[in-house]
Amino acid sequence: MWRCVHLYGPTVERTPGFVIVNWFIYSKGAFMQVIRLTAAPHGFGETVRRDNWWTTPLLVFVVFSSFIVYATWAAFQNAHYEYGPYLSPFYAPVLWGDSAHAWFGPQPTWWPALLPFSPALLILPFPGLFRFTCYYYRGAYYKAFWADPPACSVGEPRKRYLGENSFPLILQNVHRYFFYIACIFVVLLSYDVWLALWFPDGAGGTEFGIGVGTLVLLVNVVLIASYTFGCHSGRHIFGGRNDEVSKSPLLSACYDCTSSLNRRHMLFAWCSLFSVAFADIYVRLCSMGIWSDWRIL
Ligand code: FES
Repeated sequence: MWRCVHLYGPTVERTPGFVIVNWFIYSKGAFMQVIRLTAAPHGFGETVRRDNWWTTPLLVFVVFSSFIVYATWAAFQNAHYEYGPYLSPFYAPVLWGDSAHAWFGPQPTWWPALLPFSPALLILPFPGLFRFTCYYYRGAYYKAFWADPPACSVGEPRKRYLGENSFPLILQNVHRYFFYIACIFVVLLSYDVWLALWFPDGAGGTEFGIGVGTLVLLVNVVLIASYTFGCHSGRHIFGGRNDEVSKSPLLSACYDCTSSLNRRHMLFAWCSLFSVAFADIYVRLCSMGIWSDWRIL
């Protein structure tokens, strides 16, 4: 056991852009250890890291940008978002629109004439903002899109660090409320999977069946649920909303479940991003006649 520990120092070494501080630990007068602390790099992109630290932010930048471009394009199409019993998750649920899935009928009269109408424009902001404010995605796109910092221990292009305590980033705290909305979407998307099991029977009714599209929508909702229920805010809620885990056996079991999903939150964040885009592409290409949907049952 260490007793009478004394810190001596520091001695300072300077290299371009970095400061290395050595602290010496003594116990009972005997030298024990040197702690080397590397101060934050000063210049943009400066680092002592020798690995390819820039590959992850670059990949994140390319994938996120591609997803945003595709999702925006798809949302404005207002076409090819359903095929048979399948509904694209970008358009689910259809509140208003020219679709048999529409809850309240065709395009509402209050919709601004100057704005192109699409059912997806009423829906996508909610899951979009849930992802935008997600703790994992924040860490990823802060690095990839505005280099704050570009990676751990790599110099950033600004001197002042404000964190998320001031406007506008303090608004990211709304994430906990979007979690509740995201849970509703998991229920709605699960219901769409149920509907995707019932195919037209040619006599005006429906019959049970399973197509590849059913499986695509099913995998998508499983991945989205795994991402949603592993949310850090959800973990706090399931844990009892206190600073310690609830003593209730039910809440404690829920906390353990959400914690196990939370450990793979990054994985589910990426997989569900790909699956939701692929589900839209699948329905779109089937609807356009480019792909054929195979019936398994
Ligand atoms: S922290 Fe990622 S979804 Fe809540």
